[in-house]
Amino acid sequence: MTSARRIVLLGAPGAGKGTQAQLLAAKLGLVHISTGDILREEVRRGTELGNQTKEYMDRGDLVPDELIVAMIAERIRDRDGFILDGFPRTTAQAEALEEIAPVERVINLQLPEEEVVRRLSARRVCEDCGKIYNLITSPPQREGVCDECGGRLIQRDDDKPEVIRRRFRVYTEETAPLKDFYRQRGLLREVDATGTVEEVFNRIEAALA
Ligand code: AP5
Repeated sequence: MTSARRIVLLGAPGAGKGTQAQLLAAKLGLVHISTGDILREEVRRGTELGNQTKEYMDRGDLVPDELIVAMIAERIRDRDGFILDGFPRTTAQAEALEEIAPVERVINLQLPEEEVVRRLSARRVCEDCGKIYNLITSPPQREGVCDECGGRLIQRDDDKPEVIRRRFRVYTEETAPLKDFYRQRGLLREVDATGTVEEVFNRIEAALA
């Protein structure tokens, strides 16, 4: 498959980064690090970081770079491999990552905005293990219950239509420019994120090879 061990998944909200990162991490034996999942857990536990970041997330805005970079640095420093999902999201974060642990491959998942809204409106997530479902394309066997761990399935607070649109705008303005950042470094691979989860996964594998 691939010898790359420091991989970034880029893409709009709902493009499938979390879904594909979970599969890829299992296949490659790498740790999956999702800044969104980490932040939501901090909010749930009511930690200082959670309290500092909740209002940004609820609005669909980015959390300030310094909080995110410190949070990521402690998790990836000294690791020999990882799949990053949701980080970096600004040029400042990408520059910080180059200092901490230079990445070897960047996969950009491409999905049109109307498909993003359709997928996110039907997303449900296990509040215990984080497994991602979709009521239309990948529903659980029992309504509201996680197939893997029996946990409760919930809708994310930021999956409301008006917040989804805000997240998409923030992505276009602040994160999309990272494609050029990584293209210039020869690390970017574009992947069509339409089609089934399996089809997208096969394209990612091919792009990593
Ligand atoms: P985060 O949690 O990272 O949200 P996001 O980037 O908006 O991405 P999502 O998790 O919404 O989507 P995804 O691409 O992972 O798609 P998924 O696989 O779930 O960030 C949340 C917030 O935290 C941010 O708004 C910000 O405030 C803050 N934050 C996080 N990182 C930050 C950073 N670095 N800097 C600053 N702030 C930060 O799939 C979506 C749905 O589609 C699911 O239902 C899934 O089942 C379905 N699906 C997936 N693939 C397919 C397919 N091929 N066909 C059909 N359905 C599919």
